Amino acid sequence: MAVILVGSIKGGVGKSTTALALASEIRSAGQTVYVIDTDPQLSLYRWFEDWKLKDGIVVEDGHKMTQKQLETAVYDASQEYPFVILDVKGAINEQVMYATLQANMLIIPQRASAADLERSIEFLDRLEFIERARQRPLPHRILFTQRTTAITSRAEREIMEQTRQAAPVFSSELFLGDAYRAMFLYRMTLEELDAHNLARTERARQNVQSLLREIVAIITSEVKA
Ligand SMILES: Nc1ncnc2c1ncn2[C@@H]1O[C@H](COP(=O)(O)OP(=O)(O)O)[C@@H](O)[C@H]1O
Ligand SMILES: [Mg+2]
Repeated sequence: MAVILVGSIKGGVGKSTTALALASEIRSAGQTVYVIDTDPQLSLYRWFEDWKLKDGIVVEDGHKMTQKQLETAVYDASQEYPFVILDVKGAINEQVMYATLQANMLIIPQRASAADLERSIEFLDRLEFIERARQRPLPHRILFTQRTTAITSRAEREIMEQTRQAAPVFSSELFLGDAYRAMFLYRMTLEELDAHNLARTERARQNVQSLLREIVAIITSEVKA
């Protein structure tokens, strides 16, 4: 099973959006997913509270969990669900550090900005410490988010190049898309938004499906290694 941690030092980079979009497409692929929201802002837990279908995705409010409770929750969920996703606060606190111990994939969302790149590098510096504590590597990738698909500017290209030199990067991106915002607004999955004609979801779903394929390939190759 996959335990995916979506983390960053910064807020607003697209962690919760990535977590929900992944959960949405995992469900659409016919699998189940357990999400633990440890960010006190609880954007995913609030989404879940208002989500009418309540089938295939469970979101637990983990913001007050102790380390022991979080560990138990992740362990139990990983026994029952093929996918567990941890959405955390934009910081490296004890809870985030602890969550990294159980994850087998770390996604670091990042916009194509110099400030975001600096925070990603800061996070990557901590990985060394995290991997020592885990006593094994933590497969990780930076995920570019919120870029427009039109033209990649020179500055964007430069930032993306520097990012690739600093860390492995997903070839999939979550481009800027209204469908991602609409998931939170209407409390629906991408598939439901499409069915209700509330947003054009084709591009967004393709982005997420492609990301999901990359994640599964990485985790599968780690398990074999
Ligand atoms: N790919 C995207 N396309 C459109 N809007 C996005 C995208 N990613 C994030 N956003 C918007 O940016 C804001 C911050 O995203 P969020 O996922 O909550 O970040 P974080 O969890 O890292 O704080 C939200 O308003 C969200 O709707
Ligand atoms: Mg968030």
